[in-house]
Amino acid sequence: MERTYLMVKPDGVQRGLVGEIITRIEKKGFKISALKMLQISREMAEKHYGEHVGKPFFESLVGFITSGPVVAMVVEGKDVVKAAREMMGATDPLKAAPGTIRGTMGIDIGRNVIHGSDSKESAAREIALFFDEKELCDYKREIDRWIYE
Ligand code: RTP
Ligand code: MG
Repeated sequence: MERTYLMVKPDGVQRGLVGEIITRIEKKGFKISALKMLQISREMAEKHYGEHVGKPFFESLVGFITSGPVVAMVVEGKDVVKAAREMMGATDPLKAAPGTIRGTMGIDIGRNVIHGSDSKESAAREIALFFDEKELCDYKREIDRWIYE
């Protein structure tokens, strides 16, 4: 099954939004296969956001993402990369559709609560950056037959 990397950013952790975000993922039917809290180092942040090196917002982005603990997750399900991005909403929370995570929970682009991989390739790279293979739990959910036809 397809996997993505999702992360509640430091603002989401500070604001007590971890539970609500995880609830949305579980309620949708997606399966969490890894979950942990960590504080990202500058080195990891530069790798994670490597595509943005040199952009005007890069320094503040790295400063922000390393400013406090994050909650990192690997989430599994049908078409989950795209579906999770849709659940998150647009990068700028004021432009994100109402009802999405960012549309419901944020205002500023630099405080947009959640990260999600933007492609299957990014997902594989980000999962490998944040998790050891042995941290991923491979388990069967009995409920899956009530989620997938
Ligand atoms: P993310 O990687 O954090 O999930 O967000 P994203 O894919 O929706 O957006 P991306 O283009 O990858 O940008 C990464 C983060 O950089 C900040 N940003 N600021 N001021 C700006 O124009 C600007 N553009 C991007 C955002 O915090 C975004 O989440
Ligand atoms: Mg991105």
